Amino acid sequence: MNAITALPKFELPTIFVIFGVTGDLVKKKILKALYHLYRKKRLPARFRVYGFSRRDYDDEKLQTYLREIMESQKYKDPEQFDAFLAAFYYVKGDFSTKSAYEDLAKTLGRIDGEWSICSNKLFYLAVPPASYSDIVTNLHNSGLTEPCSPEEGWTRVILEKPFGTDLTTALELDTQLGTLFKEEQIYRVDHYLGKETVKNILVFRFSNSFLTPSWNKNYIEKIEVRLLEYLDVQGRGDFYDKVGALRDVGQNHMLQLLGLFIMDHPYKFIPEDIKNKRSEALASLHIMDASEVGKKTFRGQYNGYLQEKGVYPKSQTETYFRIVARSDLPDFDGVPLILESGKALEREMIEVVVTFKETPLCLYGIEGEQKNTLHYHIRPDEKITMKFFAKKPGFSNETAEHELGFDYNKAYSKELFVDDYESLLFDIIRGDQTLFVSTQEILSEWKFIEPIIKTWRNQNIPQLIEYEKGKNIEIKS
Ligand code: BG6
Repeated sequence: MNAITALPKFELPTIFVIFGVTGDLVKKKILKALYHLYRKKRLPARFRVYGFSRRDYDDEKLQTYLREIMESQKYKDPEQFDAFLAAFYYVKGDFSTKSAYEDLAKTLGRIDGEWSICSNKLFYLAVPPASYSDIVTNLHNSGLTEPCSPEEGWTRVILEKPFGTDLTTALELDTQLGTLFKEEQIYRVDHYLGKETVKNILVFRFSNSFLTPSWNKNYIEKIEVRLLEYLDVQGRGDFYDKVGALRDVGQNHMLQLLGLFIMDHPYKFIPEDIKNKRSEALASLHIMDASEVGKKTFRGQYNGYLQEKGVYPKSQTETYFRIVARSDLPDFDGVPLILESGKALEREMIEVVVTFKETPLCLYGIEGEQKNTLHYHIRPDEKITMKFFAKKPGFSNETAEHELGFDYNKAYSKELFVDDYESLLFDIIRGDQTLFVSTQEILSEWKFIEPIIKTWRNQNIPQLIEYEKGKNIEIKS
């Protein structure tokens, strides 16, 4: 074995190919994540990035374009920009043109020759899903995703949600990916799983024994997952109108969060067990019929949405929804699992609230409800708070609600935090699939939401309600 192949796998030279390098995802997330990893010396010492796009750019123009993004977004340590950007190269091509992939394969082969090693290769599809099929087919046919050998030079393909637009298209995509690649090569990104607070959910639940006995239907009254945003569709009307709130954030981020809150303890803390338990939790969601959809769901649209650019003037697309779901998991049977999300609301708040049942035997006669709640704040606050009751000082037996809490931002320096995409990219490089979504999870998510969307769209049940932009919606449980 020569000196280079003896390197630990993570240290092997790695080539990143990013499809859609001039698109929004790179601008908003991927570039920053790569740069942070670079600054923190978390990228392999030898790496290159090939940006693939249709624009008439060359290497220099790509680097200038990326530098402008880094400057305008005020990335830290500008003295490192040059060295970082020097690793970027440009490939001009249409995603459906076979020859562009063949040329890329030759280029990457040449680099491997120069480096005298079969490098690792990572293909990031930062493009709209309509291009997935062309790209994965061409990657496979050009041999680009063929690893050199089982030991050397892995290849990985990264895709972003949405995975399909319904159950049928999700299955089609899955079948195609399964034909072209091995499961260990496929990384399906749901960026919520990479958030610092979300990565903590299982640690919090399973490292604190006081929670274990009460984490079930005997003690929990309901669980609410909220993803409330004050921003509207922000010029993305064309995309959003075809999707709607439930498919945009419900089918993925929110169900993933719910899964983490209700899943059983994994046998071991290893990727396979964690993913299996998460998947079982999602598969346990009760599939509603039309009459249940009428009773258990609510949908709204903010006023002014129809005037958004790209939105069909008579659109019935929901910008808000609330769904009372339930699970067949023995521990959560009968517990309302509430999913609520909307755009253009009064507050920005992404959280999961677990409400515990009222204490049956209370020491003091207390007026009103006395229920403990656990607030798991994901964004913008990053904290966990527990509401509890204590006796007020003095002669009376009055009680008052108080709060126990842990705030990430107070407990830890900001420097220690890792962004969602940074965390996910790091895991892709080191080959840890725990925070990536499996096919089974995606299919269970679609199975759960599809009947709801069909009833909304085809039967207009329940009717779409208009709500005022910038105001919160109050619905009784
Ligand atoms: C995206 C949705 O997946 O998630 C957006 O398309 C939504 O509509 C966003 O605003 C929320 O993610 P984050 O990381 O900003 O909470």
